[in-house]
Amino acid sequence: MKGVLLHGGLGTRLRPLTHTGPKQLIRVAGKPVSQWVLEDMRDAGVRDIAVILGTLSPLRVVEYYGDGGWLGVRITYIYQGYPYGLAHAVYLARSFVRDEPFIVCLGDNIIASGLKEYVKAFEESDADAMILLARVPDPRRFGVAVFDEKGRLVGLVEKPKKPPSNYALVGVYMFRDGTVFEEIEKLRPSWRGELEITDALQALIRRGLKISYAVVKGWWKDTGTPSDILDANRLLLDERVKEQRIEGRVEEGARVEGRVVVEEDAVVEKGAVVRGPAYICRGARIGEGAYIGPYTSIGVGAVLRRVEIENSVVMDGARLEDAGRIVDSLIGSEAVVTTARGLLPHGHRLVIGERGRVMLHL
Ligand code: TTP
Repeated sequence: MKGVLLHGGLGTRLRPLTHTGPKQLIRVAGKPVSQWVLEDMRDAGVRDIAVILGTLSPLRVVEYYGDGGWLGVRITYIYQGYPYGLAHAVYLARSFVRDEPFIVCLGDNIIASGLKEYVKAFEESDADAMILLARVPDPRRFGVAVFDEKGRLVGLVEKPKKPPSNYALVGVYMFRDGTVFEEIEKLRPSWRGELEITDALQALIRRGLKISYAVVKGWWKDTGTPSDILDANRLLLDERVKEQRIEGRVEEGARVEGRVVVEEDAVVEKGAVVRGPAYICRGARIGEGAYIGPYTSIGVGAVLRRVEIENSVVMDGARLEDAGRIVDSLIGSEAVVTTARGLLPHGHRLVIGERGRVMLHL
C-alpha cells in the first residue's frame, strides 16, 4: 500500500509559530507531529510515501525528512502550494499512486492506537474505500458521517450546522485504486473555495462503491490550535513515552524523576529538577534552578535556567532564563523569555509576533 501525507495548509490558527515553518513540523514529545504520523504509516506497512508540500517553508520539510531512508521509508515530494483543499492535495498524487491501494493521512492528526489495525482491516476487506471516524460531542467543525438505519455509511457532510450523527471524520482515508481521482476531477470548489475530500467520498458512495469505516479506539488529536498542541503533547507523553531513557548527561546533584527522556548531548545540570512525563531533546541544557514539570517537552538546543515550567512545549533553540513560573505555554523556536528586573524604566518588555498571546500573572 502506498501513502500520501498532507503537509501543506496555511496554519493560520497557529500563527506566529507557522510563519517560520509548517505546523506539522512542530515538535511534540520529541518529534514533529508529522513524524508521529509518518512512523505510524510505516509501522502499518506503508513504505512508499508521497509528502504533499504547501507554501510554508516547504524546503524545511525536505531538509528534515530527506529521502526518508533514516525512518525506513521512501519519500517522494509533491508541491501543492496554495491549499485548494484536501481533495486537491490528494489529486496531485495521482501519478505517484497510479492504480494501487493507498492511504491518505493528514500530517497534523494523530491517533492514539496507531494505524496498523485499520490498514490491516482494509487490506483484508473487499471495500473500495475506508474512512476512520471518531465519536465527538460537537461535530459541527468536522466532516460528519451519515448512516442509514442499519448502520451503513450512506453519506458525508462537511461542517454541518445540524450534524446528522456524532461521528466525525478523522484525517485518514484509504482507497483501493485510483477511482477517486476520476471523481475529484469532476468536483467544484465548496463554499469555502476548497475541493473537499468529503465530496469526493460522497461521489464514490453515489457511484455505488462500498465505503467501509472504523471507529478509532482511544484519543484522536487534530493539532490545529495552540491548545491542541499542548493536548497532543500531553497525550503523546502519556501514551508513547513509557519509561525513563537517559542518553545525555545528568550531572550529580540534578534530579530526574519518572518517565523522562534525555536525548544525547542534552545536559541536566547540577541543581536542576526534571519530573516526568517530560522530553528533553538533544543538545538542550537544563541549567541550575530550572524545574521541568510534568507534561513538558523541551526542543533541540533549548536553554533553561532559573525557571519553573509545566505542561508546556518549548521549541528548538528557545531560551528561558530567570523567567519565574511558566505553565500551559507554547514557546516558539529561538524565542527568549527572561527577566526585566533591574532595568529602567520598569515594566514588561515584549516583542510579540502576529497573533502572539501573553498572559501576565501579576
Ligand atoms: P487544515 O487544518 O484545514 O489546515 P490549515 O493549515 O489551512 O489550517 P488553518 O485553518 O489554521 O489555516 O488542514 C488539515 C491538514 O491538511 C493539515 O495538515 C494541512 C493539510 N492540507 C493540505 O496539505 N492541503 C490543503 O489543501 C489543505 C486544505 C490542508
